[in-house]
Amino acid sequence: MNSIWSDHIQGVMTLYLSRKLRFDDAFWDQYDRLFQIEHHRALSILEIGCGPGALAESLHRWYPDARITAIDRDSRFIAFARANGKGIDFMEGDATNLPFEDQRFDVVVSNTVQEHVEPTAFWREQRRVLKPGGICLCLSARKGLRCTAPCLEVTAAESAFWDRVSQTDDVIERYGVGKYWLDEAGLPAAMERHGFSEVSTGYAVIDLTPDAPKYAPEMAEAMIEAMRENDLEAIASAHAPDAGDAVDAVNAKYDERIRLYREGIRQWDTTVSVTMVVRGIRK
Ligand SMILES: C[S@@+](CC[C@H](N)C(=O)[O-])C[C@H]1O[C@@H](n2cnc3c(N)ncnc32)[C@H](O)[C@@H]1O
Repeated sequence: MNSIWSDHIQGVMTLYLSRKLRFDDAFWDQYDRLFQIEHHRALSILEIGCGPGALAESLHRWYPDARITAIDRDSRFIAFARANGKGIDFMEGDATNLPFEDQRFDVVVSNTVQEHVEPTAFWREQRRVLKPGGICLCLSARKGLRCTAPCLEVTAAESAFWDRVSQTDDVIERYGVGKYWLDEAGLPAAMERHGFSEVSTGYAVIDLTPDAPKYAPEMAEAMIEAMRENDLEAIASAHAPDAGDAVDAVNAKYDERIRLYREGIRQWDTTVSVTMVVRGIRK
């Protein structure tokens, strides 16, 4: 069993809830324009490094006639994805050695995976399993915006916790997280260098502002709860014995944020995430 990512880097709920928001149907028009995948065709689509499966679930809704396969090497993510994402083939496996025959898929897609995987194998395997003329979509998080409500500022108990654990926190280096990160010019250039043509780039801008009237209460509260899970799983992943004060502090501040939202007391805190979509065709 491999659970390196879910144990040490990002927890199941952090990834699942944040991606469920990022790939919500409210933003489908932006992805649709960038993906340029034919609707209602019996396509075979592979997601690489799918994590707990939120993007695969969206692809399943957006392309109802497509067959979606999704692979990740983290066993816990795949177990969670299988329990949630009905109608999708979730598999454990390695992006650098995909367990599929040559030219099997019409579309291959990944989100925030390229920067963690050795590039020669990452691109080679996608080219290999794509049919000639198939579409490669590489999605990558870019610098967004974050404006925090006063009630969500890091508390003294959280600061004290992170001061205690930070001396031993070498997770990023130990697991090569982000080791192959490329900038906005480097990413399309890498796709071209690795044998893809007609490469294009574009950006999806996802505005997550709970108080914005365009969002229904369920969506607004989901934004707040995704931030809560992110903070709680970050604390849990430090594997520190004395996390209780920090956990209580996190829960108290998000409970307060929910209360303010429900009482209509606006905070206008916001997270705007920018996803770069690089699209190329397998020659
Ligand atoms: C930042 S997470 C993104 C997960 C998912 N795409 C999402 O957006 O929620 C990176 C993912 O890549 C997976 N991963 C890293 N290296 C991999 C490899 N060589 N083969 C398969 N998956 C890999 C990790 O397990 C993790 O789920």
